[in-house]
Amino acid sequence: MAIPSFYSARIVLVIVTVELMIFSQQMVWGADPRNTSCGAPIEATDADRVQFALNLEFLEAEFFLYGALGQGLDSINASLAQGGPPPVGGQKANLDPLDRSVIEEFAFQEVGHLRAIVDRVGGFPRPLLNLSGLNFAKLMDEAVGFPLNPPFDPYADSVNYLLAAYTIPYVGLVGYVGTIPSLTLSTSRSLVASLLAVEAGQDAVIRAFLYERARKLVYPYTITVADFTNSISGLRNRLAMCGNKDEGLIVPLELGAENRTTSNVLSADTYSLGYARTPPEILRIVYSTASEYRPGGFFPKGANGNIAQRFLVNN
Ligand SMILES: *[C@@H]1O[C@H](CO)[C@@H](O)[C@H](O)[C@H]1NC(C)=O
Ligand SMILES: *[C@@H]1O[C@H](CO)[C@@H](O)[C@H](O)[C@H]1NC(C)=O
Ligand SMILES: *[C@@H]1O[C@H](CO)[C@@H](O)[C@H](O)[C@H]1NC(C)=O
Ligand SMILES: *[C@@H]1O[C@H](CO)[C@@H](O)[C@H](O)[C@H]1NC(C)=O
Repeated sequence: MAIPSFYSARIVLVIVTVELMIFSQQMVWGADPRNTSCGAPIEATDADRVQFALNLEFLEAEFFLYGALGQGLDSINASLAQGGPPPVGGQKANLDPLDRSVIEEFAFQEVGHLRAIVDRVGGFPRPLLNLSGLNFAKLMDEAVGFPLNPPFDPYADSVNYLLAAYTIPYVGLVGYVGTIPSLTLSTSRSLVASLLAVEAGQDAVIRAFLYERARKLVYPYTITVADFTNSISGLRNRLAMCGNKDEGLIVPLELGAENRTTSNVLSADTYSLGYARTPPEILRIVYSTASEYRPGGFFPKGANGNIAQRFLVNN
């Protein structure tokens, strides 16, 4: 009897230990079975890192161009797309005149950013982008945690469009903050610093416009603008699986500036410094799949360039 119980006790111990290991792993990193590493450095050249940003710049350029003008990059400078497929589902948004002029400016700034990257380090074909209302509706359902009725329409009015826009430049911004320390050439660092400056400005304007309406309900739902932003930021944190790097417009004091404000017009860390994200974190978010290996969301066939393609090839 003594020997079997010794063994069964050991078996129970092993099972409990393994279960605890799996549990704590999931607690910390979420459920991606293949790669649970968070923020580990990736191997890449400066050119690869700068070009990775083209994916987000294409997304922003197309979303803003369609929103403000009803037509995309191919109507402005088709050569920048390098033969990549046109985006799916982009539409002119029903914007107030003030918002429209600002979004039009952002749209052309993004064209400038595309040109900057293409002229300095070279480009690649535009990836397929999904800008359809349905894609944003799905994203917002995932953010709030239930199916919105009627489905969220990003192009319906200014508030909806700004909420949809809230989902995009911030991801570029934290990506640039994450990229700069890994760049070796001063020319690359100066390019990315200058891209970051304007990207951060765009995010700040979008957030400030939304902040003015923070306590208003988003028609026809019973959810405020601030709650939408908190939900979208929460979704991005869950998808990226690397802790809190994304905060909505009204937060608990411990996330505010110096733990003293609940207003949070800008999303920043405990020192009020910008958060940084790695390319895998960014892909997990823009694919909406929580996996850099599984395309979807804004990039139904995946992002382009060496960094993103490496994850897809390994899939
Ligand atoms: C997981 O991803 C990191 C980069 O985020 C990479 O350095 C590491 O090699 C990957 N591990 C596996 C097992 O694929
Ligand atoms: C498109 O962008 C490229 C790269 O900067 C530039 O050389 C070209 O003149 C632009 N074309 C148009 C039509 O603006
Ligand atoms: C765009 O997203 C919507 C919602 O997920 C989906 O129904 C549609 O098939 C997608 N389009 C493409 C081209 O992937
Ligand atoms: C704010 O609170 C956090 C704990 O929630 C603490 O770590 C941090 O030091 C505080 N910051 C300041 C400036 O007091």
